[in-house]
Amino acid sequence: MYSRALRPCLITFQVHGRHFSSTKQNNRRVTVIGAAGGIGQPLSLLLKQSDAITNLNLYDIVKHTPGVACDISHMNFPAKVTGFTGPDQLKDALRDAEVVIIPAGVPRKPGMTRDDLFNTNASVVRDVALAAAEVCPKALVGIITNPVNSCVPIYCEVMKKAGKLDPNRIFGISTLDLVRASAFIGQAKGLNPKTVNCPVVGGHSGVTIVPLISQCQPAVSFPQPELEKLTKRIQEAGTEVVQAKAGAGSATLSMAFAGARFAFALIRALNGESNVIECAYVMSDVQGTKYFASPLLIGRNGIEKNLGLGKLSDYEQQLVKAAIPELKANVATGEKFVK
Ligand code: NAD
Ligand code: LMR
Repeated sequence: MYSRALRPCLITFQVHGRHFSSTKQNNRRVTVIGAAGGIGQPLSLLLKQSDAITNLNLYDIVKHTPGVACDISHMNFPAKVTGFTGPDQLKDALRDAEVVIIPAGVPRKPGMTRDDLFNTNASVVRDVALAAAEVCPKALVGIITNPVNSCVPIYCEVMKKAGKLDPNRIFGISTLDLVRASAFIGQAKGLNPKTVNCPVVGGHSGVTIVPLISQCQPAVSFPQPELEKLTKRIQEAGTEVVQAKAGAGSATLSMAFAGARFAFALIRALNGESNVIECAYVMSDVQGTKYFASPLLIGRNGIEKNLGLGKLSDYEQQLVKAAIPELKANVATGEKFVK
């Protein structure tokens, strides 16, 4: 049994005086791992606002996680919110989840690379995968934890060892790179950034982040020096936030927004919506690196089709080429950790 302090905060809801009852289409069980953190809390707040989620399980190693769950549960939306804390409750938090979003682990401080987080965060992702392999092997999983380029291979290798790997269901969330590309292009061109859609492919660190500005909708063009400056800004935007926060962490609020966008895309796909397309970092043979981010058509069972890179400009081809050695090394580091 849970101690009083750790007891999950179980809440049922009434909507317009009647108990909320979910339909099959509207019965989604979502678990957030790392839910009490800088990303986890605002992400959970955004997810709670979805009528499509019926169960929102919030897990973190910190003891006040049931308090975070209790707090969010008071928002007047249907999802039943339950808090879980400590390794003993990890499997309960994950059991039968259909969507799992993982923003657990330490963030960067100024002067660090994402790879510097590997030693701490690799085991966090491994342990979640070990538990998920037992209790929710069919979940669609979105990994936010850095270094994403290595953490996705870790998750996949653990699932493979457990005989449960379905690579179509495991995603590294690179959505923040697309959100930033839209924001910066919108600012540069005086467009409403909400209407700007620019694919970003490759991976999620430095030179592996490859914005395909030639494919932006609406179409935009820049003189080469400006294009290079903009590309660099998108690649280094995470560091821009780390420096601005001056030791207090990395992007949390924009990441929560991006993570919610990706989670909602997964839920729309689970609910049978057609034409759900998002970029994400997944197991992939599009560039011979084993894992690569590209636009994906997502359906009820995860990736239905990898849409590949499309036509690239000469400059974008060079960027992809520069990303490949680093991606290969990042993937090897992740795989080696599990072997
Ligand atoms: P944070 O320190 O504010 O929160 C992390 C949370 O994870 C904490 O509450 C901590 O208790 C929890 N945690 C640690 N170990 C855990 C475990 N074994 N199981 C469950 N929870 C655990 O950090 P943050 O700012 O929220 O960032 C989290 C991660 O997301 C970092 O690795 C960061 O680099 C990464 N990140 C990725 C992107 C991206 O675009 N993919 C963007 C921003 C941040
Ligand atoms: C980001 O892009 O903001 C994240 O990957 C966090 C970081 O360390 O930059």
